[in-house]
Amino acid sequence: MKTKIKLVICKLRLVRLSVVMLSLCACVSSAQAQHANGLKDAFKDRFLIGTAVNMWQVRNGDTLFNSVLTSHFNAVVAENCMKAEVLQPIENMFYFKDADEFVSYAGKRGMVVTGHCLVWHSQAPSWFFRDDKGVRVSREVMIERMRRHIYTVVGHFKGRVKGWDVVNEAVEFDGSLRRSEFREIIGEDYIRLAFQFAHEADPDAELYYNDYGMDNAAKRGAVVNMIRDLKSHGLRIDAVGMQSHLALGSDLTEYEKSVEAFAGEGVKVMATELDVSVLPFPNGTMTAEVSTNFDYQEYLNPFKNGISKEKLDEQGRFMRRLFDLYKRHSDVFTRVTFWGVSDAFSWKNDFPVHGRTDFPLPFDRDMKAKPWVYEIMK
Ligand code: GLA
Repeated sequence: MKTKIKLVICKLRLVRLSVVMLSLCACVSSAQAQHANGLKDAFKDRFLIGTAVNMWQVRNGDTLFNSVLTSHFNAVVAENCMKAEVLQPIENMFYFKDADEFVSYAGKRGMVVTGHCLVWHSQAPSWFFRDDKGVRVSREVMIERMRRHIYTVVGHFKGRVKGWDVVNEAVEFDGSLRRSEFREIIGEDYIRLAFQFAHEADPDAELYYNDYGMDNAAKRGAVVNMIRDLKSHGLRIDAVGMQSHLALGSDLTEYEKSVEAFAGEGVKVMATELDVSVLPFPNGTMTAEVSTNFDYQEYLNPFKNGISKEKLDEQGRFMRRLFDLYKRHSDVFTRVTFWGVSDAFSWKNDFPVHGRTDFPLPFDRDMKAKPWVYEIMK
């Protein structure tokens, strides 16, 4: 009798185990089904689909993250580890450990790597522009520091990085050149010099100018002039990166005019840091200038308990218009890179107001694709 009972219990356990195993398999295969034929496949004949990745994601080895990444994206850019303050924190002491790990993580997954970024006023090391007494260095010293940084970094990644954001955010909204320390110390030709050095360091690498606010007419004009200036000096520029930190109110007509204007100058165009905020921008003047900061107020954080269906639908309509635009220009559009994968890790949760809950990316906080992802893939 006792042995019979034991046998029944054993059988019951086996059945329970098989049910658990079966539902586990179902979960895994539904996750796989969800991520098979992702964004990158839907757009494979048109442009690359990229995302920014940080070192935590590279090292953490999260299975779901890695599976979403490889199913939907075929291009990556480092969120921070290739910026000057990380790569050369002390003069002449280069730190490549993180960036090397990032590049090999991408290489193992067959993803295209963009180097971001060589010359940018922000996230540059503090020693870069000053001597040991804190006084601004001369034009000659600054050119030499910029040359060494570009030569060493571009040379180090030669053959592993497809292209470089050579200069980031050099133009103001009125079309003037930003009075960054590069511009103040070297003069306006720092842009030419940066492109020249990058090309000398790796003649095979593509070279890009990258900026936000590209739906602004004055900025568009200044970038067109920059392309002409570089070309007239015999310098290489392959593409303009439109960062595309957008919001639901962004003007896509002006944005498209910029795509056409840059393409008209004979360069390719890319969306390099796409995210679409659903939150109100304080004082209405939308910018991605990283130094912008406003105090937290409740009315600025309307979706802290979850995004409403109406807002998500509105975002869906915006994304469909945006991707229709990219498709219309897929002869010149080479890449669309999102600035992150999931809303949980977006910088927009803290910009320009700290501590909000934003929803700017294609995957939600549970790593589930938003409905519009499937719509744009159709
Ligand atoms: C700019 C830079 C990016 C990143 C974002 C903010 O757009 O180009 O590298 O720092 O700001 O996250």
